[in-house]
Amino acid sequence: MIAEANGRRIAYDERGDGRAVLFLHGFPHDRTLWTPQLQSLGMRAHTIAMDLRGLGESQAGGPYTMDAYADDAVALLDHLGEPHATVVGLSMGGYAALALWRRHPARVRSLVLTSTRATADDDATRARREEMIRRLTSGGSEAIADDQLAGSLGRTTRRTRPELVRGVRTMLASAPAAGARGALEAMLARPDSTPTLATITVPTLVLVGDEDVVTPERDARYMHERIPGSRLEVICNAGHVCNIERPAAFNHVLGEHLAALS
Ligand code: MLT
Repeated sequence: MIAEANGRRIAYDERGDGRAVLFLHGFPHDRTLWTPQLQSLGMRAHTIAMDLRGLGESQAGGPYTMDAYADDAVALLDHLGEPHATVVGLSMGGYAALALWRRHPARVRSLVLTSTRATADDDATRARREEMIRRLTSGGSEAIADDQLAGSLGRTTRRTRPELVRGVRTMLASAPAAGARGALEAMLARPDSTPTLATITVPTLVLVGDEDVVTPERDARYMHERIPGSRLEVICNAGHVCNIERPAAFNHVLGEHLAALS
């Protein structure tokens, strides 16, 4: 579906009734990343998965910042008549979820920070992103797909699930180049969210796969130790996109988090 929100077309899928759960994907994904969650949790919640601006089928056009992603998400909640939502962000989606909390705390019922980190980029990461922008500009998303794929999936998934490996590669390689470039710029410009962590007053679940090499368990522990009352769960045999690598385990923990809110 397409919403006109925050002055642009935002693509989204929704399923189910009940309390709103808004899913924000990572880089350079699209809303189909969350299909296993909409299929499972749509039985007991109003699940919403959106494409961040410029990615999937959402309209491209700057500014590309975490704040802009957060404002788009809130505009979509307005469009859907949802006063607040549990915000589930994976990796870059987690950076946007933290911006959403900073800018619109009243719209956040709870937070689920998955495969993400609070800190800003270090120098090596900044250099790697700038190199990716150059490759994207000359070769499109296909030119960065294999590098992204290497970090996306855990070793167990790479060894045992060739069809999932192919599916994730297709998603990475088909990302619109302008939106992917914008996302890299947004990640480069994002602030250190460490000071934000202590301000979080809503129930928060921190999730990570034990085979995640992009945002490893120490990043999750760093957030967990600083977010008052947060819960940390480590999903075994899963890498960076743990929600599609181990969907049953992911949905179980997320389901517990949602049940505890009522
Ligand atoms: C993502 O999955 O969103 C990215 O790996 C995050 C990042 O590069 O920092």
